[in-house]
Amino acid sequence: MTSLVRVEAPCSWDDWEMNPNRAWAIHPNGPLSGEIAVAGSKNVVTKLMVAALLGDGPTEVLNAPCVGDVEITAAILRAVGAVIELGSTMLTVDPAGITDGAVPVRYSGLNRIPILMIGPLLHRLGEAFVPLVGGDAIGTRPVDFHLDALRALGAEITVSEAGVTAKASRLHGARIRLPFPSVGATETVLMAAATAEGRTVLENAAIEPEVVELALFLQRMGAGIELQPDRRFVIEGKTHLTGARQRIGGDRIEAFSYLIAGLVTGGSVRVSGCSQARLVTAISTLRRMGAHFEIDDNGIRVHPGELRPTAVHTSTHPGFMTDWQPALAVLFTQVAGMSLIHETVFEDRLGYVKALTTMGAEIELYDQCLGGEACRFHEHEWLHSAVVHGKTALVGTEIEMPDIRAAFAYVLAAAAASTSSVLSGVDQLERGYDHVVDKFRSLGLVIDELS
Ligand code: EPZ
Repeated sequence: MTSLVRVEAPCSWDDWEMNPNRAWAIHPNGPLSGEIAVAGSKNVVTKLMVAALLGDGPTEVLNAPCVGDVEITAAILRAVGAVIELGSTMLTVDPAGITDGAVPVRYSGLNRIPILMIGPLLHRLGEAFVPLVGGDAIGTRPVDFHLDALRALGAEITVSEAGVTAKASRLHGARIRLPFPSVGATETVLMAAATAEGRTVLENAAIEPEVVELALFLQRMGAGIELQPDRRFVIEGKTHLTGARQRIGGDRIEAFSYLIAGLVTGGSVRVSGCSQARLVTAISTLRRMGAHFEIDDNGIRVHPGELRPTAVHTSTHPGFMTDWQPALAVLFTQVAGMSLIHETVFEDRLGYVKALTTMGAEIELYDQCLGGEACRFHEHEWLHSAVVHGKTALVGTEIEMPDIRAAFAYVLAAAAASTSSVLSGVDQLERGYDHVVDKFRSLGLVIDELS
């Protein structure tokens, strides 16, 4: 087995506090160009770590990214008794020693992982407690779909201020229809139903590549899972699953983020390690704007060309993903003309815009559904549409990075600005992006790490 030495932990997550003092001074110095080897997907690796709890034996995940969310998830799993070993690009999870079904409340608010653990903990122990989940501040982020689905599968659920308690000697199959194709709720159902008694049919499920990758992993563990047309999963519950070994696919959010780093600074970036299939909508959107691509089996390079504005609606897969939206907004500030964003997945995912306007961006926010069909937020007051007027000169500023994707967007804006910026809250960035300081420096960005 490959030696398991964590080569470069991004930061210490042992004290469970984001360190707001970690900051970068970014000194823009022209176009960013070069090659980025994209790491494995953050939003797959943590899910496979949780799914591994269902196995009778250990699991091995290859191509794991070096991100803070992996460290946080490892600590959460260790807290219930799993043994986790983290290598530089691989990790193992051995669930044999799990004896505690309660995730300590100190893990509340760090990421979205605890809620996903209910199914696997019920399978192992018949009871579970998970603290109320956190995650990025991009909307209210309720967990009602997860809890309703678990109840339909036979779990007795009690919600308190501290968290969610669940009990079930064995879950049973059910027919469930999600009100919206939620990624997390689909993952909850896949994991809970995989060892339930009988058949579960999940309608209106999320079919994001990250969800499908989890389904493939569960299938390797021995689960009976089919993906039918019309967003429908059919799961035949098994009494036992084994551990499994899987190499995870490239992170399509990281890939897109660095392609934009090239475009927004007038440079040219090539990304490898993330399949074209995962970037279809991203590539077609950027092509519509006038970007030129060179695509082969090993990578994707983008060249800026004369960029035009466009309108984008975020959506579930295969639509334009919500996690690509903040980086695209920064690109829009550097494109002459009026561009439009309609965010339809998270109601409050444009909060990062305010800081961009202090840098000189001209962006107006609206509670209407601009430029297309009404979405589920149309009768609410959420500012979920943006009109971006470009091209505007950006100047450096001081900003605190609020969440992973906004954090990357601020780095992009700082790189495209005419003067230096100081961005604090680097832990947020490193929670989701692999070796991010090295990767930006390899493209030519000058970054001073201030603490
Ligand atoms: C996952 O979040 C990702 N996070 C997000 O990436 C991603 O933006 C999102 O899926 C959409 O693709 C992880 O995988 C860890 P959802 P998740 O459940 O599962 C509503 C990143 O930066 N909803 O698909 O939490 C919800 O409020 C992160 O890596 C309910 O109403 O997203 C939202 O409006 C940010 N009730 C919509 O569904 C529920 O019980 C979609 O959320 C669950 C969700």
